[in-house]
Amino acid sequence: MTKEALKALLDGMTLEEKAGQLTQCNAGQFIRVDAEITGPEGQPLPADALNRVMGSVLTFENAKQARQLQDMHLAADRNRIPLLLMVDVIHGMKTTYPIPLAMGCSFDDDLLAECAGMARREAAAAGVHVTFNPMVDTARDARWGRILETSSEEPLINGRMGAALVRATQGDDLSDPDNIACCVKHYAAYGAGEAGRDYNAVEISERALRESYLPAYKACVDAGARLVMPSFNALNGIPSVANKWLMNTVLRDEWGFDGVVISDYDAVGELVTHGVAADMKEAACLAMEASCDIDMVKGVYYQHLADLVREGRIPEKALDDAVMRVLELKNDLGLFENPYHGADEEAEKRLNLCPAHREIARRAEEESAVLLKNEGILPLKQNIRNLALIGPFAEEKRLNGFWSRPGAEAYTVTLPEGIRDRMPDLELVIARGCGAELGDTDTDGIAAAAKAARSAEAVVLCLGEPENDSGEGRSRTEVTLPGPQLALAEAVIRANPNTAVVLFNGRPLVLTELEKIAPAILEMWYPGTEAGHALARLLWGDANPCGKLSAGLPRTTGQYPMPYNRTNTGRPKPQPDTGVFPFSSSYLDSPNLPLYSFGYGLSYTSFSYEKLTLDKQSITKNGSLTVTVTVRNTGDRPGKEAVQLYMRDLVASVVRPVQQLIDYKKISLEPGEKKDVVFTVTEKQLRFWDFNCKEISEPGDFELSVGCADHLLLTHRFTLKA
Ligand code: NOJ
Repeated sequence: MTKEALKALLDGMTLEEKAGQLTQCNAGQFIRVDAEITGPEGQPLPADALNRVMGSVLTFENAKQARQLQDMHLAADRNRIPLLLMVDVIHGMKTTYPIPLAMGCSFDDDLLAECAGMARREAAAAGVHVTFNPMVDTARDARWGRILETSSEEPLINGRMGAALVRATQGDDLSDPDNIACCVKHYAAYGAGEAGRDYNAVEISERALRESYLPAYKACVDAGARLVMPSFNALNGIPSVANKWLMNTVLRDEWGFDGVVISDYDAVGELVTHGVAADMKEAACLAMEASCDIDMVKGVYYQHLADLVREGRIPEKALDDAVMRVLELKNDLGLFENPYHGADEEAEKRLNLCPAHREIARRAEEESAVLLKNEGILPLKQNIRNLALIGPFAEEKRLNGFWSRPGAEAYTVTLPEGIRDRMPDLELVIARGCGAELGDTDTDGIAAAAKAARSAEAVVLCLGEPENDSGEGRSRTEVTLPGPQLALAEAVIRANPNTAVVLFNGRPLVLTELEKIAPAILEMWYPGTEAGHALARLLWGDANPCGKLSAGLPRTTGQYPMPYNRTNTGRPKPQPDTGVFPFSSSYLDSPNLPLYSFGYGLSYTSFSYEKLTLDKQSITKNGSLTVTVTVRNTGDRPGKEAVQLYMRDLVASVVRPVQQLIDYKKISLEPGEKKDVVFTVTEKQLRFWDFNCKEISEPGDFELSVGCADHLLLTHRFTLKA
């Protein structure tokens, strides 16, 4: 449709019809579909009237439903404006790949893009037009259950992976039925909620916000994300959906975002609960003033926008602009010509869970697993005859994590299935041992599990956190292994020290006690559809672990928030840490550093960082520096290594982080092979937000280092000249 035709369409619409375009319903609100509802359910809106004018739908499951929804709506809408169909396709539609936090551990933007491409193909075939992805909230506190939805505690990774996902999902042309639009969320700083409690208030200086939170959203906007979702939380006193500074000043004016803003679930209505709007009408008014275009699910816009315009409280121009943004998105998706977009039952059958997609998911699962400890236990021997698979996750099917689509467990390869496929002659003894629910105290099964361990050649002990304990609305005050799992680990490892612990969880967990007793620990996160195959290949060394932690693992929950890129204090704790140092910035009962730091992860081979060279000792503002790091595989099997480049600004007008990731590259090395990894450093990477909230760089000395956080191996200085 031409711009003129869109304008004519808009001009012919009533106020109610315009409000309808800005209203999103649950599929279940007007048609019975077995779609998952992702928020608290409220009163259904009047079905018939709404169906005529409604602009978009949240959550359905397949092409058949997509077509049904579109047909029902088009038959009722006199303007014949197709619906926008939106789904949370976060880490897969049918073929599920690892949770975003795990994908962050791959340190591989291209791999993420491959996974996103697969999800996009399956989602497009199901008739999805928009996915509520990527989520790029900086999360530095694992008490917050949604930490699993983000790639990392580091905005650089979130921004790079988010942008890669946007490009792989939207493609060059949205009207191609194989492409779908992205909604970046949750703008802004949703991950910084006080005390790690979901939906909680965020108080943060503009300087900190701009430095550590906003860059990842901006990277996705710059990559072309077509929608943005404001976060639930109040940011410095004003909920994001009504936060004019955040939405109008920064997003629209500064960043030039001209796409669609959609509220989170009932976030407009919740302005009343927050206590910043007296009633729903005022809530609608506040959200519109902050240029929120679509109201998700509760119908606040539908009920009040027309009146607000008639009363002169909202200019009709503002309403028209919002509607036009929605119509333009529909037009760019080609919906006026083909309202079904990619919805195609045949394509669904062909693509969903196809071998090629399973292969991508399996590879991603292997490359996001992080080997935390290994005292010669892994890989297991090829000629092993019997193995005990123990623990509450030994036979678990729900290894996909929050936001896997409903029913995902039905087609997940379990661990016993994966192991039997790899080792058909292996005698496999399975014992659950105990549960993993919070508050679970039943230890009756531990003795039998220890017995099974004792008579096996080796043990794989599967511990973790139930799938539903991390995700939205799932904050915890203690991020320890729930239930009696530690007691199970003690008994099993005592019975058979040839034990590898394998973890399935959605958030960094405190492993302090486990680490003392476990000879090997492999962090699998929630791997997804190919869980069993990926684990078997990792256990027997067909795949070599290469994940690096994208968020550090704490020694104790009390360390949170625990950013790896902390700033120094005037009284830093002396390093190396040999105990308690009174009057230093430290704890009486715990070291400062995490148990496992950001960027840490082992391999079955070993790497040495042989040389770090800079092509010059100083640069000017327009110059650049070439940094070369020589890495060698010093072990006896091929492996991959995520090479990480850190920076420290030694003296600046505001305190700077003691280490800051500024780039990373993942390389493959054959045994004995060495490679030069080249990074280019420019002045832009040295910038920070000064006290007056200006982005600047300051001349002076900087350090560049490689290694992982808290364990930097090689360091060089250079100078930024005025
Ligand atoms: C609430 C969540 O906060 C958001 O991430 C999600 O996209 C919406 N519900 C829609 O399901």
